[in-house]
Amino acid sequence: MKVLGLETSCDETGLAIFDSEAQHSSNQGLLGQVLYSQIELHATYGGVVPELASRDHIRKLVPLFDELLAQCKIDKSEIDAIAYTKGPGLIGALMTGALFGRTLAYALDVPAIGVHHMEGHLLAPLMGANAPAFPFVSLLVSGGHTQLIAAHGIGQYEILGESIDDAAGECFDKAAKMLGLPYPGGPNIAKLAETGNPNAYDLPRPMLHRGLDFSFSGMKTAVHNLIKDTKGADSDPYVRADIAASFQHAVVDTLVKKCVKALKQSGMQRLVIAGGVSANQHLRETLETALRKIGASVHYAPPALCTDNGAMIAYAGYQRLQAGMCDDLAVSCVPRWPL
Ligand code: KG4
Ligand code: ZN
Repeated sequence: MKVLGLETSCDETGLAIFDSEAQHSSNQGLLGQVLYSQIELHATYGGVVPELASRDHIRKLVPLFDELLAQCKIDKSEIDAIAYTKGPGLIGALMTGALFGRTLAYALDVPAIGVHHMEGHLLAPLMGANAPAFPFVSLLVSGGHTQLIAAHGIGQYEILGESIDDAAGECFDKAAKMLGLPYPGGPNIAKLAETGNPNAYDLPRPMLHRGLDFSFSGMKTAVHNLIKDTKGADSDPYVRADIAASFQHAVVDTLVKKCVKALKQSGMQRLVIAGGVSANQHLRETLETALRKIGASVHYAPPALCTDNGAMIAYAGYQRLQAGMCDDLAVSCVPRWPL
């Protein structure tokens, strides 16, 4: 079964085709994928401008679709189903992908299904041959979410804990901005941190002893004060690298400790990390070490499938269709939608 996935919830136009018959091949069932980022378009405004995002998705969807078909060497008549991001996200941006997907599905006379963006992230590490089995604990860490979830099966998700304020990715982005680094902050902080000392500055580990919830807003203030005290935004490159490394270490340490706690509390032995921040190498390595000590394992997707992309939507759509789920012809998007 070949499923076209469409991701247009924010500032990336992502399209991919997942082929369930190729799932055990080296490309994890991905026939091909294309991704266009609008980062440059929004850069001068200091954030994503919703109207511009929608217009750019509309401009790109058809040419990217043609590019994808050429890359996959298939004709559109070979597509068996279409999955699109139904929410959460920017309503106008979501509508472009939903309308494109629905219309194409109608023209090709194939089923279409709306997918929850965070379910796409959550299931992405399951693509391919070595997928961890259910049940598992999932740490969803993106620009908008930080959640610990007990995943019992497709569509059976129980929230164990979540951020009461900012998401971890948002915190990376804000810290980067304070250090004068461009968006997205995560990869830029990680790069700068490579040459820094993670123990140079002692930053807070918020809510460590309070359940499985997170709080990252205090971390922003702590970084702000540290930059002010050290004149880190415009001075010594070594100081800046130390700030980046200490910040990254504090966030990672907090996430890892909560993951260990969630595994112990739920009695589960597998952890799946997903979302943009799960691409972070320091997070991956620290989790590997911590989980080895308690006899648990950690699973994640290749970096390109951690951040927003069409492949995760194609795969989540495929799983839902396999479970007998399908949407009617109505185009409905949900900008705010709990998992
Ligand atoms: O999942 P994603 O692409 O979009 C959302 O659904 O939000 O996540 C984007 C977030 C951004 O905040 C970005 O800074 C962060 O993921 N991110 C990283 C890394 N790569 C992306 N954070 C830390 N380390 C990284 N290597
Ligand atoms: Zn995302």
